[in-house]
Amino acid sequence: MPSRIRPNVLQMEPYAPGKPISEVKRELGLDSIIKLASNENPLGPSPKAIAAVKQAANQLHIYPDGAAFDLKSAISDKFGISQGNVVVGNGSDELIHLLGMVFLGDRSDEIIVGKPSFVRYDAAADLVPCVRKAVPLTSDLRHDLPAMAKQVNDNTRLIFIANPNNPTATIVTKAEIASFLRDLPDHVVVVLDEAYFEFATTDTNYPDSRELVLDGQNVVGLRTFSKAYGLAGIRLGYGFAPRSICDAIERAREPFNTNHLAQVAAIAALADHQHVEATVQNNSQQMARLVQFLHDRHLRVIPSSANFMFTDLGQPAQPVFHGLLQQGVIVRSGEAFGLPTFLRISIGTPQEMDQFETAFDNVVGNLKQHVGSKSAQEVKR
Ligand SMILES: Cc1ncc(COP(=O)(O)O)c(C=O)c1O
Repeated sequence: MPSRIRPNVLQMEPYAPGKPISEVKRELGLDSIIKLASNENPLGPSPKAIAAVKQAANQLHIYPDGAAFDLKSAISDKFGISQGNVVVGNGSDELIHLLGMVFLGDRSDEIIVGKPSFVRYDAAADLVPCVRKAVPLTSDLRHDLPAMAKQVNDNTRLIFIANPNNPTATIVTKAEIASFLRDLPDHVVVVLDEAYFEFATTDTNYPDSRELVLDGQNVVGLRTFSKAYGLAGIRLGYGFAPRSICDAIERAREPFNTNHLAQVAAIAALADHQHVEATVQNNSQQMARLVQFLHDRHLRVIPSSANFMFTDLGQPAQPVFHGLLQQGVIVRSGEAFGLPTFLRISIGTPQEMDQFETAFDNVVGNLKQHVGSKSAQEVKR
C-alpha cells in the first residue's frame, strides 16, 4: 500500500536558503566568494562564545539540560523578565514552528501574516490544518496593520509581524503597535519577531516586545542569537511570552531542543557587549555607505532598520543576482519574495562591501550594454 503523506505537506515548498559559499565555489570554480544573502554577522561569532564552546566540547557525551536553566536564567537576568516568561528553541525558526503547533490545527483556525514577510510563518501554518491570510504590505513596504486588523475574526489565533520585516527591513512603530493591540480581541496572539532587534533599537520609535509582555499584553516576542550575536550555525533562538504560552511551548517542544554547545555559546555571547557593539557599529557604517552607493545610482532604497537592505533595481533582479553570483557575490533576488525587481543585500565588512560595489557596477554596466546593443539591433531590424 502506498504511504499516505498528508496532501498539505506535499504542497509545501522546501525552504530555499541563501546559496551556501561551498555550493557556489563548487558550481563556479571561484576562490573568493562573499555571502551577503542570509543576514549573518560579518564579524563572525562572539570570541567569548567560541571559547565557551571549546571548553564545553568535552561534555558532548552527556545530554544537554533540556530545561536550559542556566541560559534562561542569563536571559532573565539580562532583560529583567522572569524565567517563566522565557522560552528557548533551536533557532527562532523552531519557536515559530512550535507556535504553529500550539495554536493551530483546526480547519477553522486562522493566522494572519504580511506579504511578503518571513517565509517560516507560512510553513508553520501550511504544516497543519488552518487558514492563512496574507495581507499585502503598504506601498512603502511596511506591515499594513489596519488592513491586518480588518482580517481578524473569532477564528483568528495568531498574527505574525516581523519587526523589522524580512525581506523589506521596515518596522512598525511603538505607537502603531500600541493602537493595533488596543483594538484586538483577547483571543488573538500577536507574535513580534525581533530577529534584528539589536540593529533596530537605535530608533526610539521601535517597540520592544519584552515591555509588552511585562505589561500583560497577549504578545510573544521572538529573538535570536543568529544575527547580532553571530551564532547562526549553532541554532539558538529565544522568546518572551505570557506564562500560559511558555507553558504550552514547554509541553510541545522536544525534550532536548537546544543543545549543550548552543546553550553555553549563547550564555557567553549574551555577556559579550563589545562584540554586539562592534557588530552594530559596522552595520550602521556600512549601511550608510550602501545607501549612498545605491542613491548615487538613482535606485529606490527602502529605509532599513536591520542588517540588510532592500532596493528596487527598476529592472528584473534575477539577471543581476546571477551576474553577481558569477563574480562571487551571493545576494537574494526579490523574485523569491514576489517582488522581482528588488534585491536584498546583507551588510558585510568594509572589504566585502568593496567587493560588492565593484561587482554590482560591473554586472549592471554589462547588462545595460547588453540591453543597449539589443535595442540597437531591434531598431535596425
Ligand atoms: C524575521 C526572521 N525571523 C526569524 C529568523 C530565523 O532566525 P533563527 O536563525 O533564529 O532561526 C530569521 C532569519 O533570517 C528572520 O529573518
